[in-house]
Amino acid sequence: ATHVTTIEKDCSSIIPPYAKLLQKLDRVRELLNNRPLTLAEKILYSHLVDPEKALSRGGKIRGETYLQLNPQRVAMQDASAQMALLQFMSAGLSRCAVPTSIHCDHLIQAVDGASSDLQRSIVSNKEVFDFLESAARKYGIEFWKPGSGIIHQIVLENYAAPGMLMLGTDSHTPNAGGLGLLAIGVGGADAVDAMTGTPWELKAPHVVGIHLTGQLSGWATPKDLILHLAGKLTVRGGTGRILEYFGPGVAAQSCTGLATVANMGAEVGATTSTFPYTKNMCAYLHVTGRGAVARAADAAAEKGLLSADEGAEYDEVIEINLSDLEPMINGPFTPDLATPLSKFGALVQESGWKDELSASLIGSCTNSSYEDLTRVAEIAKQAQSAGLATKVPFLCTPGSEQIRATMERDGITSTLQDVGVVVLANACGPCIGQWKREDSKGEENAILTSFNRNFKSRNDGNRYTMNFLASPTIVTAMAFSGKLTFNPMTDTINLPNGQLFKFTPPSGQDLPTKGFAMGNTGYYPSPMPEPQPGTQVVISEDSQRLEMLEPFPSHFGPQNPRGLELPSLKVLMRVRGKCTTDHISAAGPWLKYKGHLTNISENLLMTAINDEGGDMNVAFDHDHDSSQSRSDTIPNVAKRLKARNQPWALIVDENYGEGSAREHAALQPRFYGCAIIVARSFARIHEANLKKQGILPLWFVDKTDYSRIGSGDVVETFGLGDLMNGNGEEVVKLRVTNSRGEFFEILTRHTMSSDQVKWLKAGSALNFIRSQIA
Ligand code: F3S
Repeated sequence: ATHVTTIEKDCSSIIPPYAKLLQKLDRVRELLNNRPLTLAEKILYSHLVDPEKALSRGGKIRGETYLQLNPQRVAMQDASAQMALLQFMSAGLSRCAVPTSIHCDHLIQAVDGASSDLQRSIVSNKEVFDFLESAARKYGIEFWKPGSGIIHQIVLENYAAPGMLMLGTDSHTPNAGGLGLLAIGVGGADAVDAMTGTPWELKAPHVVGIHLTGQLSGWATPKDLILHLAGKLTVRGGTGRILEYFGPGVAAQSCTGLATVANMGAEVGATTSTFPYTKNMCAYLHVTGRGAVARAADAAAEKGLLSADEGAEYDEVIEINLSDLEPMINGPFTPDLATPLSKFGALVQESGWKDELSASLIGSCTNSSYEDLTRVAEIAKQAQSAGLATKVPFLCTPGSEQIRATMERDGITSTLQDVGVVVLANACGPCIGQWKREDSKGEENAILTSFNRNFKSRNDGNRYTMNFLASPTIVTAMAFSGKLTFNPMTDTINLPNGQLFKFTPPSGQDLPTKGFAMGNTGYYPSPMPEPQPGTQVVISEDSQRLEMLEPFPSHFGPQNPRGLELPSLKVLMRVRGKCTTDHISAAGPWLKYKGHLTNISENLLMTAINDEGGDMNVAFDHDHDSSQSRSDTIPNVAKRLKARNQPWALIVDENYGEGSAREHAALQPRFYGCAIIVARSFARIHEANLKKQGILPLWFVDKTDYSRIGSGDVVETFGLGDLMNGNGEEVVKLRVTNSRGEFFEILTRHTMSSDQVKWLKAGSALNFIRSQIA
């Protein structure tokens, strides 16, 4: 049934606890001597578990202090939700500590159109969807069925609220920042922190102010603002930083336009992006049935919560005059290679690329708004009335069922279909490689998308597909020319009647006059479902994709003769050089085993280099029997140690575990029996993940000791007992004995807090939580 959302939603679980946040903010102001605060600081610090503890030490906060925070909501997509839920379940709680939602969007393949694609994907992913749905029912999680839409669009339409702090298990979670909040993309282990009510830790990011003046005009859209900024900041320019926009240029943007900008802040590595509360945000809340949130936000804004203080200091300020912006085309293969449209034709020629576009794609979580689609429809109408049809395959993935139904009701879909657009299911589809493309297999070709990412092979699995990012209007207009060098702002298209056709800049409409249509309400969850504890979570015995997580046994059980020291450990290997979470747990074809720890562990460290010999995926088994070879793959040797009940140690180089928050990179070594990892240095997030899984991360005091330890050596800890008893020093001594019986001692440093020591003792953070309930 298609009907209008004039009904107010029940907002009780959505409205942020503004009174409490403001009260905390007052305390924060006192602690910081009433210095003016940025908006990002206000939101973060008002979510601190204990402002006194975090802020009363003096010294620098941004870039230095670790904040313990209480996020208010969690959203998870179907791929990352699997392991997050399995972990949550092993904590033994009966409900989530904060409102949580699951969104089925990543596993839907785009082949030939919405309804058949959806049906096929539901069948092929049935066991995963059944698992997610049953777990959602058991724990009172809102479950958005396949077909409901893409996580970030749904969060913006339903859950985002100004001033809120929320987490999502997907890198484009910051999209929700379009409503003036902090939405942060995290790994499953962080989401589980929030779901279990464990404080979530974040190093206070630096805050970059982006000062917007002037106005967008003509063809320039908010997408062009972020494409321009990506070129300026590069893919690493936002790391450890929040991008906070301010200035007179913010207010004129639609809420959904700001969401596009926030979405793609992820492309420069920003922690998240945010904006002061605006009238357009208020209007968006009303039209999406959240008047109650808008009214509460209006009041909170009056009290100063939802914008920066006058005189707030940013770590850096970037000036952008919107009047100077022209449409941008970014790529190929990286989102920060930004070229203004007027120079793109020359770039195509200089680079020797074929002047041919092979497909246009619009929609996705990034650009599915009513405003985007009305602008696109206007372009299509102009072309159609001149007798043009698109020259290349043109696909559209609506961000949500609500958008799909509204497009249909308002004639946008038929306008697009009339010029040859194929509307796909409301899901990620081609944006995440779920595009079964029949043309251009293995050949160089160029596509234009309004999506957010354009790494090699991202869309169609063909590494020779050059993928360029642009606004939906530019992607659409260029589809009618079929040429890469076509500039819709200045160039004309020859019509069959000999006349020349030129586009005029489209205007679009921010919000639908008739409100949003809901579409098929069968896809939606019941709001705030109560947990049904009797529900059986569905995992079949012989599943290859899902497996219940067995709690990891503690190393400190009665079987350990060394008491509060770790048992004697064998060194699995010494890893040379760069070792990211991708080296530890590869993605690609392994993603289908995300919910099956035994299967995915078969990829452990498979692209890591062994410093003894310099080979990839080779490890040595010094205790092999006559039926086994001495050298084998890394996962195979790890498996042998596990089979012998032999806990092990790993020796690693600098910045071990950099890259992502992927919790599998900590779960997998733990699964095979890893007890300590000794590093020259750790990437912070991964180090925290190791601790959560009950692995002790240790830092070499003298980094040259790294080369003194080799595979097969026996390592014993000394001084851990003191740490376990709560009066430990920072130093843990290791005695290393080699195969000839020679031994030496080295010093390492731990970074365990007293709470983290409890996790180590219990075997994992989740074991500890479970022990507290019992
Ligand atoms: Fe999906 Fe692509 Fe967004 S994968 S969540 S549509 S970035």
